[in-house]
This record gives sequence, C-alpha cells and structure tokens, in this order.
Amino acid sequence: ESVKNLDETVPSPHRNQNRLTETPSAGTDSFANTPDTDPSTSENREWGRLALSRSIYTQLGAETVRSNKLLGPANLETLIQETCAAAQAWQARGSDVRAWILHEAASALGARRGDLISVMAAEAGKTIAEGDVEVSEAIDFANYYAESARRLDVVDGAEFQPDRLTVVTPPWNFPVAIPAGSVLAALAVGSGVIIKAAPQTPRSAAVMVEALWQAGVPRDVLRYVTIDEGPLSKALISHSDVDRVILTGAWETANLFRSWRPELPLLAETSGKNAIIVTPSADLDLAVADVVKSAFGHAGQKCSAASLVILVGSVGHSERFRRQLVDAASSLRVGFPTDPEVAMGPIIEPPLGKLAEGLTTLGRGETWLLAPNQQGSDPRVWTPGIRDGVRPGSTFHGTEYFGPILGVMHAKSLAQAIEWQNATDYGLTAGIHSLDADEVNTWIDEVQAGNLYVNRGTTGAIVQRQPFGGWKRSSVGTTAKAGGPNYLTHLGSWKSRPLRS
Ligand code: ALA
Repeated sequence: ESVKNLDETVPSPHRNQNRLTETPSAGTDSFANTPDTDPSTSENREWGRLALSRSIYTQLGAETVRSNKLLGPANLETLIQETCAAAQAWQARGSDVRAWILHEAASALGARRGDLISVMAAEAGKTIAEGDVEVSEAIDFANYYAESARRLDVVDGAEFQPDRLTVVTPPWNFPVAIPAGSVLAALAVGSGVIIKAAPQTPRSAAVMVEALWQAGVPRDVLRYVTIDEGPLSKALISHSDVDRVILTGAWETANLFRSWRPELPLLAETSGKNAIIVTPSADLDLAVADVVKSAFGHAGQKCSAASLVILVGSVGHSERFRRQLVDAASSLRVGFPTDPEVAMGPIIEPPLGKLAEGLTTLGRGETWLLAPNQQGSDPRVWTPGIRDGVRPGSTFHGTEYFGPILGVMHAKSLAQAIEWQNATDYGLTAGIHSLDADEVNTWIDEVQAGNLYVNRGTTGAIVQRQPFGGWKRSSVGTTAKAGGPNYLTHLGSWKSRPLRS
C-alpha cells in the first residue's frame, strides 16, 4: 500500500493554532507575511516530530521526479515548444486570474507544510525550523508576486511585455523557497516556466510544483524536469527560445551559463562571503547568539551565512565573549534532523575541494578556537569549527566555503573592520552588532552589500520587508531583489507607447 502524504493523513488542526494571520484571500491587495509554526506548543512539536519521522520512509514527490526525467534533445525541443505555446494562453488569462491562482498556490503550499518539511529533511538535512521558514517564505512569494503583477501592466507610460519562456535553475540549499520564488515570479507575469530541479533535492522541488499544479497552475505552463548535468542542460540553457534564465547558485555557474550563450538574459543570485562586525558597544550576548545562528544554521550552507566575525578593539580581547562563542557553537547538537534535538544537520555531501580544506587546514597565524570534527560514521556529519586569527587578504578571508566554519578577525577600529568586511569579491549580506547610533550610521553608509542587518543575524531575508539580492559577484546580470517591488519588472521587456500626434 502506498504511503499517503502527511498532510492528507494528519490534517493536524493544531499546527496553525498560533499563526497570526491566514493567507490573504484571493483578490485582496493586502500583503502580510506568513508566520512560522510556533514551536512552543506541544501539539506543534508533536506534528513536527511526525513530519521528521515520516521523512525516512515516504517518497513524497518521487513519482513527479520519475515521470519528468528529460531524456534527450528531441524531448527537449518538444518541451520547449509546448511550454511556449501554453504560455500564450497563460498570458492571455490576465494578471487578475493569475493572481487568483497564485493566492490559491499560497494556500496549497500551506496545506502541504508538513510534507514540504518532511521532504526537505530527507533530501537536504534541514531541521524542522529551517524547513518551516522556507515554507512560509514560499507562501509569501506567492501572495506577494500575485499582487505585484497586477500593478505591472503599464508603468510610467511604458507597457510590459512578459517573457514567454523562463528557465529556473534553483539550488539545493533552499530546496523549496528559492525554486518557489523564481517560479512564482515568472508565472505571475505570465511567462511559461521550465524548472530544472537541483540534482540533490529533486523531490523537494517536485512537491512544491505539485502544490502549484493542484492550485490551478496549468501543467503545460509550469513544466518540471530533472536532467543530467551535461549536454542536455547546456542545450536547454542555450536554446534561443528561452527568454530568461533565473539562476541561484555559484558565481562560477553563472559564468558557465554565459559561456554557453553570451547574450543570455540571466537573473542570477550568486555567491557570498559575509561578515558580522561586533563593536565594544554591542550587546555581546545577543551578538554571540546571532553569529552562531548565522554561521551554523543549515550547517553554514547558505549564501547569506556569516562566514566571518570581525571583532573590534576590546571585544577581541574579551575572554568571556570567546568562551561564550565556543560554548554556544559546541553545544549545537549535530546529526540528522530525524532526531528533533539536532540543531545542525549534515552537509549535503562528504566534503571535497575547498570545503574539505577549510574544515581541516589552517592558514598562517590561524588557530582553532573550536576544531571541526567529523562525527560518527557518516562523512557528512561535522561539528562546527571556529578559527581565530584570520588575516586580511588570506585565503579564508576571500573564499566562500559553504559549510560550518566561522573565521574570527581582530580589527583595531570600526573603520578597519568595515574595510575588511568590504574587501571580498562578494557583497551579499553584512551585519553589525552595535548599540551606538553613530557607529551604525557610519556602517550603513560605507558597507558594500545588498542586505544589511543591524543587531540581527545575516540570514533569513523576509519577503517585502527586506528583499534579497547582492552586489559585486553576489549577483550577475541584475540588481533585482527577490521579494521586492522591482523584481517582476526584470522578467520581460518594456515598450514605450507611441506619442499621440
Ligand atoms: N534568502 C535567504 C536568506 O536570506 C538566502 O537567508
């Protein structure tokens, strides 16, 4: 007997008990962020535990994955032509109808919250809390873009012509929220979409897509495929009927796509090397908690993660701060999220290349405050690492590792700390912990990054309230911010209307 979806078998009346608002009803122009599930109630905790335990033996999304494997160039051509044809009808339905369907999609995603958490735990090692915020963000994208698209048709006398075909290539590290955001944005404007699932997390994206289909997004307008990396991927990305590719991934991948098709319209959110500055005026207890969460949430596998903490002046000499930082990091239980006590899940695959080096090799003058260790028999499970004495211009200062390693730098002044924070090739997120308004204002003026966070961690951008996107090598081909007012304007072309004579 096949195993049914968690959310079909366990309606769980309790899980939204403490949620502050419901999904806005179709057709309203209001937007409210969707709250996450409240872990303080025993019912919600029990519901979460069930989702995790089921992640081991259910194969949610597997049928969608199996039946949508793209096999060869002939299938690819058919897929592209069919999606282009379907997109015309989708566009003709108008932004009000599409908005209505997107609000339905928000509800459908909410109704599968438990399934989505379960499949993300299975594929990406995400804890309940890490998975839960992704579902909320996906719902937010649906509601937000639904309403943004209604306002798009004519802006400043120019008319919007949406892309006909968008290809979405999402990452594995946010296996629901990021593919959902990209797909929903393109659908909102009236584009047809082919989503090429990340090879590590195909079922997470599949369950998300199933929810959208269930909500009324036509299956021929939103096509889900898995595809081997190689010639077929290249053929898809470089196909001349593809109007735009939305990529979230490494900066190098954006360059690879560009090498395949130099004129490719690309909207890419790419790598980061992010730092949090802590000044002597900071609330140091809060700083420790935020640094640890930003560095080790999802085992550091976020483009927004804090990979460096830059201690200004006396903070660097504070034995108490150092001890608290090490204690907080070493108290994180590591393992697989099927154990609900686990706070830091595994890395996506056994460490190779630069991550392996970052976990094992110190640079000149560096010492381990907390040495990372592989734990148990699974080579993906690591304890967090903190290295002290990272020097400006060193390998660690400039390299994105995408894993659970934090580097500590010691700056003489705020000015020096900002200089070091800016001195990387990337500019995605940046943080400061300071209770001094002058320091904070100076920092805001001088820091070179897309998302700034004051007295808060550097991860977890919030749709509408803080749209997400970076500078320098953290984005390619765009300054658009996901979840912000201008994002959709980048998914098409604008025609100025002729002047009346
Ligand atoms: N949008 C994700 C975050 O802010 C990457 O952490």
